[in-house]
Amino acid sequence: MKLTDCHNFQDFRKLAERKLPSPIFNYIDGAAEDETTYIRNTQSFETCDLVPNILRGVADIDTSVKVMGQNLDIPIYCSPTALQRLFHHEGENAVAAAADKNGTLFGVSSLGTVSLQEIRKQYHGPQCYQFYFHKDRGLNKAMLENAKEVGVEIMMLTVDTITGGNRERDLRTGFSIPFKLSLKGMYQFGIKPAWAINYLTHKKFSFPQLDDFVDMSDAVMSVGSYFTEMLDPDMNWDDVAEMVDFWDGEFCLKGVMSVEDAKKAVDIGCTGIVISNHGGRQLDGSRSPFDQLGEIVDAVGDQIDVIMDSGIQRGTHVIKALSMGAKAVGGGRFYLYALAAAGQAGVERALDIMRSEIERDMRLMGAKSIADLSRKNLRFR
Ligand SMILES: Cc1cc2nc3c(=O)[nH]c(=O)nc-3n(C[C@H](O)[C@H](O)[C@H](O)COP(=O)(O)O)c2cc1C
Repeated sequence: MKLTDCHNFQDFRKLAERKLPSPIFNYIDGAAEDETTYIRNTQSFETCDLVPNILRGVADIDTSVKVMGQNLDIPIYCSPTALQRLFHHEGENAVAAAADKNGTLFGVSSLGTVSLQEIRKQYHGPQCYQFYFHKDRGLNKAMLENAKEVGVEIMMLTVDTITGGNRERDLRTGFSIPFKLSLKGMYQFGIKPAWAINYLTHKKFSFPQLDDFVDMSDAVMSVGSYFTEMLDPDMNWDDVAEMVDFWDGEFCLKGVMSVEDAKKAVDIGCTGIVISNHGGRQLDGSRSPFDQLGEIVDAVGDQIDVIMDSGIQRGTHVIKALSMGAKAVGGGRFYLYALAAAGQAGVERALDIMRSEIERDMRLMGAKSIADLSRKNLRFR
């Protein structure tokens, strides 16, 4: 199977599975506990059907959106995800370059493996920095100041990781950073030598967003202990309100699921919220963002940019979310499998396919621009 054989999400997933040692593939592919939320995230798009309009002169299609003050050429962006150089040695550089070519946003994770500075040099699109809140308030301030210096446009605070999700696939394979693999896990690395050669012959794995502030060298701190020792499970609305004031720019909360919290986000001055359940990787049994989107848009959609992620695999999923009132959508696995499959070329292909699906779907819907999409185009079953 080659990159040119990949025509959709499932094809990229298959190719990624062939390329990656299985503990790494399962880290991307897996979710929390019984993975019911993970499955529901995509299934929820099937609860409604699209009702197209005809004869609307759709030769020229405008897929652009404005979200959190940024103009994007397409309404889907690459959600921030950790550890990208583990999936392909080009890592975040590949995703940033592909996002740039497609005129869209790329979120850099706090657990990213390329520095904000390095990405900034070669990527001209708007940059979004995903932040984890530390117990040490001084550290939080220093990290925000660093992001300001780099010129980050959007601060995105993840609020659904107050503790780690129970990801049982990782428990089985022994996946952790640094690696502490089970025997079976080690064997799985042994049978993917191409991955191992690439990993070992490229720049040493590190966490540049954290390295200046936290000692993340192998012997000192694992990703697991970073979460339990450094992050603050007592984080509350007052802490975040202070952070919003300090940042004094575009600020969004990622992982809002209730109307009540969406209203509080407005009250403390956030400019955006991402309705998300972290791709089903945190609280299994939680509602899917698409199921929850309508009521949140109705409550706060005129006061704050409502975005959603989790479960998006197709252009039609994007069209349904935008028709419900989302300003834009994010996706994780749709570009991560492609990254693992073929680095930058893979992510470019995943974004190209997504763009052409969205364009085709808009034509078939009779929508010339995103503003033409509305709930009139949806019927729930
Ligand atoms: C492998 C992987 C790593 C992730 N790392 C982060 C992270 O570091 N920070 C964060 O806020 N979200 C992270 N996420 C969640 C994504 O930002 C996004 O919410 C999720 O992938 C959306 O679901 P989808 O994969 O179904 O599109 C990660 C997701 C995956 C699959």
